[in-house]
Amino acid sequence: MSTWANLGLQDSASPLMEQLIFFHDHALLILVMITVLVGYLMFMLFFNNYVNRFLLHGQLIEMIWTILPAIILLFIALPSLRLLYLLDEINEPSVTLKSIGHQWYWSYEYSDFNNIEFDSYMIPTNELSTDGFRLLDVDNRIVLPMNSQIRILVTAADVIHSWTIPALGVKVDGTPGRLNQTNFFINRPGLFYGQCSEICGANHRFMPIVIESVPVNYFIKWISSNNS
Ligand code: CUA
Repeated sequence: MSTWANLGLQDSASPLMEQLIFFHDHALLILVMITVLVGYLMFMLFFNNYVNRFLLHGQLIEMIWTILPAIILLFIALPSLRLLYLLDEINEPSVTLKSIGHQWYWSYEYSDFNNIEFDSYMIPTNELSTDGFRLLDVDNRIVLPMNSQIRILVTAADVIHSWTIPALGVKVDGTPGRLNQTNFFINRPGLFYGQCSEICGANHRFMPIVIESVPVNYFIKWISSNNS
């Protein structure tokens, strides 16, 4: 979860988010190199008083500064495509969670386990406990096992919503009449916070998501306590 003065990305809690951070840093480094080079050239050009009277064309340099940017773009495009396809890869999920967006709360269904279902509302500020997080904590958390492949099915009942968890690198739109799919793998225990991030009306975003990541045996305990 983001706290004060955290202007960058959150620490990753899944292998996909780790890859997304690597790609972000990679792209940023290329961006910095281009900015420094172009900035230097513009700066030097600004203070240059000399003119070469015989310089009318330069076939070679034009070839170079046409092809070189194209090659540089390939170094961004290819890792980007790799990540794009990696994010959509479903790898034998052991749990499937269905989340349905409503105005303005999420409801969840564990279809694999006797169809456990519940609504998840944001806790209003005046009902918040002293250690609660304003606009982020919910009354019913999603409990999921760590170190397991998890499949998420997202849809919506009224308008478009978006199921977004920054630390896990997940952002899937919930659209009425559609069922979108994604997957993730949580590699540590803890609480992971997210918010809806698709325009869904007044009070938009006040439909947070909280995942409680627990070891598998605790998850089985939670599932069986909800089944009885
Ligand atoms: Cu639901 Cu924004």
